[in-house]
Amino acid sequence: MKILFVCLGNICRSPMAECICRKIIAERQLDIEVDSAGIIGYHQGEQSDRRMRQAAFERGYHLSHASRPVKYSDFEDFDLIIGMDDSNIDALREKAPTSDALQKIKPMASFFSATIEIDHVPDPYYGGTQGFNYVIDLLEDACENLVNQLSISSI
Ligand code: 4NP
Repeated sequence: MKILFVCLGNICRSPMAECICRKIIAERQLDIEVDSAGIIGYHQGEQSDRRMRQAAFERGYHLSHASRPVKYSDFEDFDLIIGMDDSNIDALREKAPTSDALQKIKPMASFFSATIEIDHVPDPYYGGTQGFNYVIDLLEDACENLVNQLSISSI
């Protein structure tokens, strides 16, 4: 199983999702691979946003991903392609080369617990520190549920 997390710039939300998921997968010794990418290539090669790395560090995570844009082969290589918001999902659907690829695209919010009252992972880029912490809260919840679902379906 290979999962690709996608946001706009691949410097805040999707590398954080990748990092959280990677930690859960390692703790449970599961055979799941994760990566992340951005809709835009503007930040290609850059490490994650300093504010995201700081918020991650304070919660016990180390972000080491270098930003890269989504590429054509991702739609072949990954089993699940998870977008952070509706705009990411729309852009992924436009890029998907086949109907098989379209089926792989899912919103991160589809893995939120029922108690969460928002339907996307909001872009923290133009906001303050609180926004980055909130993104981590949402992603921890979604990653836990996502990995649980995958573990159950592979039994
Ligand atoms: P991300 O956040 O999509 O969560 O990585 C953003 C990063 C960069 C920009 C916007 C959002 N930007 O406009 O450059």
